[in-house]
Amino acid sequence: MRKLIDIKKTLVAAATVLLTATAFAQTTGGEVEVLHWWTSGGEARAAAALKQQMQQKGHTWRDFAVAGGGGDNAMTVLKSRVMAGNPPSAAQIKGPSLQEWGELGVLTNLNDVARAGNWDNLVPRVIGDIMKHNGNWIAVPVNVHRVNWLWTNPEVFRRAGARVPTNWDEFFVAAEALRRAGVIPLAHGGQNWQDFTLFESVALGVGGTDFYRSAQVQLDQTALRSATMTRVLETFRRVKAHTDRNAPGRDWNLATAMVIRGEAGMQLMGDWAKGEFIAAGRVPGRDFGCVAAPGTANAFTFNVDSFAMFRLRNEANTRAQRDLANAILSPEFQEVFNLNKGSIPVRLNMNLERFDECARMSSRDFVETARRGTLVPSIAHGMAVRSAASGAMQDVVSQFWNDDRVTVQNAQERLARAAQTR
Ligand code: GAL
Repeated sequence: MRKLIDIKKTLVAAATVLLTATAFAQTTGGEVEVLHWWTSGGEARAAAALKQQMQQKGHTWRDFAVAGGGGDNAMTVLKSRVMAGNPPSAAQIKGPSLQEWGELGVLTNLNDVARAGNWDNLVPRVIGDIMKHNGNWIAVPVNVHRVNWLWTNPEVFRRAGARVPTNWDEFFVAAEALRRAGVIPLAHGGQNWQDFTLFESVALGVGGTDFYRSAQVQLDQTALRSATMTRVLETFRRVKAHTDRNAPGRDWNLATAMVIRGEAGMQLMGDWAKGEFIAAGRVPGRDFGCVAAPGTANAFTFNVDSFAMFRLRNEANTRAQRDLANAILSPEFQEVFNLNKGSIPVRLNMNLERFDECARMSSRDFVETARRGTLVPSIAHGMAVRSAASGAMQDVVSQFWNDDRVTVQNAQERLARAAQTR
C-alpha cells in the first residue's frame, strides 16, 4: 500500500514538472535571426527598433546584417545559407524575387497571422499582392520608399546662385553653376546598384512614366530600342561629368555625407538618404531639401522593403517568427521605424503628425500617382522585374557609365538583349 502511495506521489510530481516545463516553453521566447543590409546610420537606427520590439516580447534577436547597399551581397549570402539547409527566420527579400523564393518551397505560409491581423485591409492592395505566392502570404511589407528624389544642400545652392532643377535641362544649368562655385555638383557612389538607381531616375525624367513602364517593367523591345532610350543614355552619360573622380566604389551614405557637409550640392537617391540627414541632426527645408528627381514630379518609383519568412523546425523560434510578422505591421513599429528609415508607413491610415514635410509629400504623391496611373515599381531596387533580367541590365548600365569607350548605340543594343535574360 505504502509503495503504491509513493509511486502515485512520484507520478504526480513528475506530471507537475512536465506541466511546468510545457508552460515555461510556451511563455519563453524563441530566437529570430533576421537577414538585412541596414548598416548605415539611419538604417541601423531603424533596424534597432525592430530588435527592441522583439526583445520586449521576450525573444532573442540574432542580427544577420550583411553590409552592402542595395542588398546584392546580402542576397548572395542568403542563397548559400538556404542551400545549406540553414535559413534565417526572416530575410529582407523584395518584389518579384519573392516569387522566385516562393517557387523554391522554402518560405512559410503566414495566412494565419495575416488573417488575425487583418492584413488584407491594412496595406494597399498592389503591395499585398506582391507579398503573396499562389494567393498565400509569404512576406510582410515594412515601408514604402520613394526612389525618384533629388537631395540638395540649400546653403550651397545659395552660395552658387543656382536654382533647384525641375527637369534635366535645368539640372545641367544648376550643375554648371555649382561647379563654378567650387563644389562637386552631384555626389555619386560608383557601385552598380547606385548607377542603376541614377539611370532609372534619368529614364523616368527623360522618357516619362509610359516609356518607363514599357522599357523598365514590361521590358518591351521596341521601347528599349527606341529613340527615347537613346536620349536617356545620352543624358545619363552627360551626368557623369558632374560627379567627382573619387566616386568609384563609394558607399551611398558617404555620398549623402558629402551633401550634408556641403562638399557636394546634390544627390539622386531613394529616401533612405533622408535617414542619414536625420541621423546627422539635419532639418528638412532648412538644412537640406527634398524634391522629385528632375522631370519626375508627377511620378513615383516605389521600393517596398519586406521580410520573407522561412520554414523553421523549432517551435519556440516559429512562435518568435510569428510575433515578428505581427510586430512589423503594428502602428507603433510603423511609426518609429519609418521616422528613422526615411520611408513612409506601408500601413494605411497612419497618423503622420510626427513625420516631416518630405514624408508627407511622399505620402500625398503615393496616393495621387496611384490614382493617376503614374506609380511605377523601381527596377534598380528589385521591384519591377525578376533578378536575372534586372541584374543583366544593371551590369550593362554600369559598364556604360564606367567606360566612355562604350558607345550609346552599343550600350542600347546590349541593354535590349540583357532585358531578355531569363
Ligand atoms: C534598398 C533598400 C533600402 C535601403 C537601400 C540602401 O534596396 O530597399 O531599404 O537599404 O537599399 O541599402
